[in-house]
Amino acid sequence: QVAEKGDYRHFMLKEIHEQPQALRATLEGKVSGEGRLLASILGPDAESLMGQVEQVQIVSCGTSYHAGLVARYWLESLAGLPCSVEVASEFRYRHVVVPSNTLFVTISQSGETADTLAALRFAKSAGYLATLTICNVPGSSLVRESDLRLMTHAGPEIGVASTKAFTTQLVALLWLTGLLGQRRLGDEKVMALMEELLALPRLIEQVLELEPAIEALAARFASKHHTLFLGRGPHYPVAMEGALKLKEISYIHAEAYAAGELKHGPLALVDDDMPVVTMAPSDELLEKLKSNLQEVRARGGQLINFVCEQAGMEDGEGVHNLRLPKVSDVAAPILFSVPLQLLSYHVALVKGTDVDKPRNLAKSVTVE
Ligand code: G6P
Repeated sequence: QVAEKGDYRHFMLKEIHEQPQALRATLEGKVSGEGRLLASILGPDAESLMGQVEQVQIVSCGTSYHAGLVARYWLESLAGLPCSVEVASEFRYRHVVVPSNTLFVTISQSGETADTLAALRFAKSAGYLATLTICNVPGSSLVRESDLRLMTHAGPEIGVASTKAFTTQLVALLWLTGLLGQRRLGDEKVMALMEELLALPRLIEQVLELEPAIEALAARFASKHHTLFLGRGPHYPVAMEGALKLKEISYIHAEAYAAGELKHGPLALVDDDMPVVTMAPSDELLEKLKSNLQEVRARGGQLINFVCEQAGMEDGEGVHNLRLPKVSDVAAPILFSVPLQLLSYHVALVKGTDVDKPRNLAKSVTVE
């Protein structure tokens, strides 16, 4: 299957715009007519293995690692399962202690990342309950070597900076959360969760309409050398992913912080030359986030806030709000990832970098 750019200037832009379709394709066939999630699509014995899971260990790299970090919030709050997430290059050399009945999960777009594959090979003899990979490439090494597999259907991703692979991984991880949490949550809540997932493609289409506004903002970034991304809860890893995207393709130094850590260091860096990008969904942490933002404003920091329509954030001097459609708290991290992709893309365009093939980076890191 040869991917073409079509009318798009870059693969990355095309792949950003393909997300509604990629999410739909990833969800297809995973819920039965009676509203039950089909464990059997994961492979042999999946039904009985899933019933035994008491903990989850997620291992991955780069953008796929950020997907794992978001999933931890879901697995703990919805499925009630303790969850650890680690980059594969660290995990593989650690002397891990494996708690009983732990499901080992790798996440990978390519299925060929050397460190992730090495971590899986180690895990297979380390006493895990089972190994499961969430992967976009059928027949890849991770898919072949894992006990169970959950495929994303993003289609070929050519841009080195991952976009549609990330959001489809998040969809797969939320589906997995529903599956692992089925007993605790009950069928009705699980179905409500699936409804939220099914509503996402339409919401992403609305978010893509923000592109002209994001493009206008991007011009402000091009002359900056540093940017801070802030978020709380599952939006902290979303901020990490936003910072990674900006670094990868625009070469602007970007760092993500949990907003509550602002006082413990990064506040010292804030001045009018460092834009601060924040994720402000309308959740239980919004009021706390607002007070973090006041601290930034008090130091002259320029704020770019991605906010939920109903979050009640006001524009003002040095404060730019981009409003996203109403979305459930659970699905919000998926929706909020999209404008960050557009932001980094348009900043890179202004800077004139090679968007699809950023310097020094590879799409798939198959050597250590
Ligand atoms: C490289 C790519 C990233 C990707 C990471 C992990 O660094 O440039 O976009 O997130 O590898 O790749 P994987 O295929 O395992 O998801």
